[in-house]
Amino acid sequence: MIEQLTEVRERALREIAAARTEQDLERLRVEHLGRKAPVNELLSGMATVPPEERRTVGQAGNEAKQAIQAALDVRSLELRSSRLADLAETDSFDVTFPAQPLNRGHIHVLTQVRRELETVMERIGYSVEEGPEVETDWYNFQALNIDRDHPARDSQDSMYFGPDLLLRTQTSPVQIRAMERLGRPPIYVVTPGRVYRRDAIDASHFPAFTQLEGLAVDEGLTVADMLGTLHYMVQSVLGEDRRVRVRPSYFPFTEPSFEFDVSCAICGGGGCSTCGGDGWLELGGCGMVHPRVLSNGGIDPELYSGYAWGFGIERIAMMRHDIQDIRLFFEGDLRFLEQF
Ligand code: DAH
Repeated sequence: MIEQLTEVRERALREIAAARTEQDLERLRVEHLGRKAPVNELLSGMATVPPEERRTVGQAGNEAKQAIQAALDVRSLELRSSRLADLAETDSFDVTFPAQPLNRGHIHVLTQVRRELETVMERIGYSVEEGPEVETDWYNFQALNIDRDHPARDSQDSMYFGPDLLLRTQTSPVQIRAMERLGRPPIYVVTPGRVYRRDAIDASHFPAFTQLEGLAVDEGLTVADMLGTLHYMVQSVLGEDRRVRVRPSYFPFTEPSFEFDVSCAICGGGGCSTCGGDGWLELGGCGMVHPRVLSNGGIDPELYSGYAWGFGIERIAMMRHDIQDIRLFFEGDLRFLEQF
């Protein structure tokens, strides 16, 4: 019996050492340690062994099994590391290895708010119109009633590519482009997009930001139509409890012109530190389109009137999500972005 055990053990060790793959090794494990393995078959015949030899035989059996197990472990490690070495050598990859989990991205908060504004306006018949970010002096300024020496240019310095070509400072030039492209009113468009200004960076200024411009041209439009439209837009994105108001202002391309304010969400209009004690937050400008601007867009101001507005999308997103610093939108910090 001892001799047979030794023989079975030696054969197992030889076969294991010669195994070429991890699958072969698994087959050998079943063959030499499984229920029907020769060692176990032999040991099940223990009854035929004389009682005084049983102890020695049992011990030899256990040692054989331990040796086989140890040989399996050693060979398994060898095969695994040589498989990895082969992989590194050939620079191929092992499709059976589990993959790294993919990091899923998502839409940037500014884009989310922009799309939501577009959807809200499309619901009441507006379409989305886009224009170029590199714009001519005519569209960006002159057609909007801002001549070469107009003081309104002071607050809108930009990067110039020549005397007549610049990074647009506002989305208002798309008003002119939309009137030219669409021709006869009714015209109801929103024009979202990037604009550029030489502004010093702080918590509420960034040299590149995003505006949502709106333009409506039709028969008999009045300030009341404008207010109703903007009230609807603000309540749709910022909440039903928001109130709006306008204050007289000046823009060269509207007459009359207004600053447009939204009631503060924190204090509801009573005044707090968020709104500077005022109860109101400024969203942007608006007004009735100046007759000369309509003419520059090819539309007869005797027949049609229009209203327009230009709001900062960052500002709307900041109000919506209670964000305190505009720089957060552009820094790409995942701890910020992942919240939305
Ligand atoms: N373009 C102006 C700016 O960037 C904002 C603006 C004011 C747009 C009044 C308008 C408007 O369409 O009617 O400061």
